[in-house]
Amino acid sequence: MLKRFAFATLLAAIFAALFPLAILRAETGSAAWLRYAKLDEKTAQQYAGVPSALLALNRQSSPLLNSARDELFLAFKNTLGRTFRVAHQLPQEPALILGTLDSLRELDPGIDLPTSMTPDGFWIARVRVLNQNCFVVSGQNERGVLYGVFALVRKISLGESLENINEVQNPSAPIRWVNQWDNLEGSIERGYAGRSIFFDNGKILSSNPRIAAYARILASVGINGCNINNVNANPHLLDDENLPHLAEIANTFRLWGVQLSISVNLSSPKTTGGLDTFDPLDPQVAKWWRNKVDALYAAIPDFGGFVVKADSEGQLGPSFYHRSPADAADVIARALKPHHGIVFYRAFVYDHHLDWRNLKNDRAKAAFDNFHPLDGQFDDNVIIQIKHGPIDFQAREPVSPLLGALQKTNEAIELQVTQEYMGQQHHLCFLIPMWKEVLDFDLHADGSNSPVKEILSGKTFHRASNGYVAVVNVGFEENWLSHPLAMSNLYGYARLAWNPELSSDQIAREWTALTFGRDPKVRDTISSMLLSSWHTYESYTGPLGMQTLTDITGSHYGPNIESSEENGWGQWHRADAKGVGMDRSVATGTGFAGQYSPPVAKIYESLETTPDDLLLFFHHVPYTYVLHSGKTVVQHIYDSHYEGAERAAAYVQSWQTLKGKIDDESYSATLDRLQYQSGHAIAWRDAICEYFLKLTGISDKGGRVGHHPNRIEAESMQLSGYTAVDVTPWENASGGKAIECLLLQVCSAKLVFEGVPGKYKIDIQYFDIKSGEAKYRVFVAGKLMGEWTANMQLPATKIGGDSSARHSIPDIMIKKGDEIRIEGISDKDDHAALDYIELSLNLQR
Ligand code: GCU
Repeated sequence: MLKRFAFATLLAAIFAALFPLAILRAETGSAAWLRYAKLDEKTAQQYAGVPSALLALNRQSSPLLNSARDELFLAFKNTLGRTFRVAHQLPQEPALILGTLDSLRELDPGIDLPTSMTPDGFWIARVRVLNQNCFVVSGQNERGVLYGVFALVRKISLGESLENINEVQNPSAPIRWVNQWDNLEGSIERGYAGRSIFFDNGKILSSNPRIAAYARILASVGINGCNINNVNANPHLLDDENLPHLAEIANTFRLWGVQLSISVNLSSPKTTGGLDTFDPLDPQVAKWWRNKVDALYAAIPDFGGFVVKADSEGQLGPSFYHRSPADAADVIARALKPHHGIVFYRAFVYDHHLDWRNLKNDRAKAAFDNFHPLDGQFDDNVIIQIKHGPIDFQAREPVSPLLGALQKTNEAIELQVTQEYMGQQHHLCFLIPMWKEVLDFDLHADGSNSPVKEILSGKTFHRASNGYVAVVNVGFEENWLSHPLAMSNLYGYARLAWNPELSSDQIAREWTALTFGRDPKVRDTISSMLLSSWHTYESYTGPLGMQTLTDITGSHYGPNIESSEENGWGQWHRADAKGVGMDRSVATGTGFAGQYSPPVAKIYESLETTPDDLLLFFHHVPYTYVLHSGKTVVQHIYDSHYEGAERAAAYVQSWQTLKGKIDDESYSATLDRLQYQSGHAIAWRDAICEYFLKLTGISDKGGRVGHHPNRIEAESMQLSGYTAVDVTPWENASGGKAIECLLLQVCSAKLVFEGVPGKYKIDIQYFDIKSGEAKYRVFVAGKLMGEWTANMQLPATKIGGDSSARHSIPDIMIKKGDEIRIEGISDKDDHAALDYIELSLNLQR
């Protein structure tokens, strides 16, 4: 019997060693970085000294402190398998004490408390309290206690030592907010992870449990405010019948220290409010806002305030009455002031009907031109919300000069977690290194050193309400942001808003360990993918500061180089046959460079000192201009696109080394995205390289652009049912053409193989249109080798840069005379379109 038992145990041990996957539970991503995975014995052991008695100093039974206590219970139970004994007064044994500094002082007037704490700051320490050795998690306020708990459980999840802990952390800035761009009917502007968790069909989903889950995730990284509706605001959200529902959301947020705010439409007094004007200087309008705000605060006493987008992209604003943004912001601010509410007034104010023929026009100048003259005219509960670059979340932009120009006004930087121009969560793009560059950039705003992070902390200009806002746009999809690696951006945003000194590497490693576990191989692989991903994306989309060369007037997703030009939107790169780039110098260009302080302006004014990666943002140069790197501009465009596409392909291989080391669901979902990304990177690469080859007539020194020896155009194959079509713009399909199956039958494209026999990889470049799910099958010598459905949910309505995708089938033996046949079956508007196939001989034995 004993023998049999020993044998079974041995078998189980061998099984566990051989199949570690068996113990990796499936993950949906819904817990984000709060998985609280069980720690191994050895790691858990180091926390044995954390007391088991818990004293929560919570006399008022505060909801925030209750959340803090419950979180501690949950995390200790899941990570360490431990529970606490709840004490109601300090027991005669060591205890873990939770409470604000004030409540600790009340418990033990002799306690040695830190003196350096600011609101929301926390303190974690082993300390003597009334002669007991205790472990204290304290906060300057109640929110600080909650943040301290989250910091403690993060340390435990990361296996960090608590041996001699005595740590005070204060947030870098008081404003650490997120914005959602959710519409009342349930869609999300620039949201890529499903429908809204807040609204559906004109109704507020106030009791949706996802709202509480989101608030908890935000609190866990120190976010203290959330604006829930689109900046292109529907004025009906302010209707009286919505107030109780907003109040319900505020109640949920309050448990996690998150303040609720909403975007308002400046024209509301007129459009829904019954007045015949919305002139901010009209006393009736001021009264209207006061009444609205009073009613809001009667329902939600700790309501945060409003976000305002005005005079921008069709939203009406004060210019309608020849009033200024300060007039508009202040009238609302004055209504909010008695309730301690704030107005976030967005600096994203620009004319989108600029005359593109006028080389002096420049959208980049708009924020500074509109807001700098008003510095000092905004009330102290107004915060100017400024996008980090002067245009709009492009692959690379310089830092907005306005960030250094408002010295007598509160300001918050606006970053974008939702990857509008950065691959829309179909591409991996970890944005922390980009944001770090912004935050570390020295604007020399007050004549001395003033990195953006210091301006935002309020230190540079002694501002009390500066900080950070990020547009996040989580949706109903279980993992919040759709791409399994995309939540790293929300995590990283919040960690930087708390402490901009953290390195990208530390943030990437923390997030990876919390999300996928502490296996060093997993940690190294994923964090190194994350860290290089922005440069990778930049290099196959819009290098040298050309901005993202995407479909500016449409999806903002795939390549569409000319869509930036010859229209009023002002995202111009001004590429013509001779040169490329916007001249923004003072001497000969738009003068944008002159909006910076003199030391910075000097760098950008001159071609020689402008860094390569922003060259085309500031200067118009011939394609043969030689960069600091020694390459010509056009060769850089070619090389960077090839290198970027290669790096995207390498992510697939890196990821494949993790099989069995993370749960299957996350593994496969991520692999699918990375494979798709590597195919789309090729579509980007080819579109841009072929375009510039044709435009400039300058060939690629590497001999790659325009030469695709392994490629067979679909339109050159023998077609049955398929029709060849021209693609517009031409560069978004190889050879400018594709084939589509317009019949209600199986269409096919085939050829007889006449090449060298051997093992091949077949890549099929096809087009995946959103409104249908076409099917494809690949046969070689009559045998089915692969099949798939085009159902990627891309933002693609037609054949072109948004829809181009790739399916690869490795290791296929092909002999001379074999027939290669691709079959396509249309579905609705998805016509099973094909661009080309590529046959690459596998030279490995
Ligand atoms: C971009 C984006 C819009 C958004 C706007 C804004 O232009 O494409 O969807 O409304 O930014 O920030 O207001």
